[in-house]
Amino acid sequence: MRLILLGAPGAGKGTQATFLCQKYGIPQISTGDMLRAAVKAGTPLGLAAKKVMDSGALVSDDIIIGLVKERIAQPDCTKGFLFDGFPRTIPQADAMKTAGVQLDCVLEIDVPFEAIIERMSGRRSHTASGRTYHVKFNPPKVAGLDDVTGEPLIQRDDDKEETVRKRLEVYAAQTRPLVDYYASWAQKDPKAPRYRKIDGIGSVDDITARAVQALADC
Ligand code: AP5
Ligand code: ZN
Repeated sequence: MRLILLGAPGAGKGTQATFLCQKYGIPQISTGDMLRAAVKAGTPLGLAAKKVMDSGALVSDDIIIGLVKERIAQPDCTKGFLFDGFPRTIPQADAMKTAGVQLDCVLEIDVPFEAIIERMSGRRSHTASGRTYHVKFNPPKVAGLDDVTGEPLIQRDDDKEETVRKRLEVYAAQTRPLVDYYASWAQKDPKAPRYRKIDGIGSVDDITARAVQALADC
């Protein structure tokens, strides 16, 4: 299975990726997690990316496309992969098309912007694994600690309300056009990835069930 999860910041891409990657036995490729790992490691890429991410803007297409191409060439991607947070611009989507990267399905998780601010303000993350929780909607077994490793959870620097609003603006301007891009490609080309959309409001388990159902014929 080669899958793209499309959705606004906070739509639940990372949360659902955990379940879907387990179900299909494929790696999660989250460009956000890759950038946060570079920030943590203090690499030149990380230092440059941190400023951009904290402002709510997007890291340059060239950097992201290079990172993803390198990642999908790894042996664990031969059986498939799940893109979480990529592509996020038309040039990123075009780069995959030009490189001949086959995709089975694009799954859009639809959550209205009003619900997103509350989700982001309660989000807690385990940086090393990318696992994500919410203080109210998806709490860890022990408050403040990751379920698997017991390590402390953190609040992401870009989850401040002002930055979240900027990220939503950037999504509307640069990423939402991909909805039309993939939906219209699917309509006119039988070789295009299938396009599926699910309602992202409900419990985490409900959304997983909707996603699995939507992907059943992909
Ligand atoms: P990235 O890490 O990709 O952030 P994002 O797309 O803004 O998405 P989020 O991770 O914020 O949300 P999510 O959809 O994964 O939601 P989650 O499951 O955590 O990117 C960060 C930055 O990196 C970008 O701003 C950009 O600068 C840069 N970047 C990354 N990729 C790039 C690219 N391709 N090109 C250029 N720049 C790039 O859920 C959110 C919260 O809601 C959690 O607390 C969760 O527990 C909770 N929740 C989940 N599901 C539910 C539910 N059903 N009900 C209630 N709460 C729920
Ligand atoms: Zn995420």
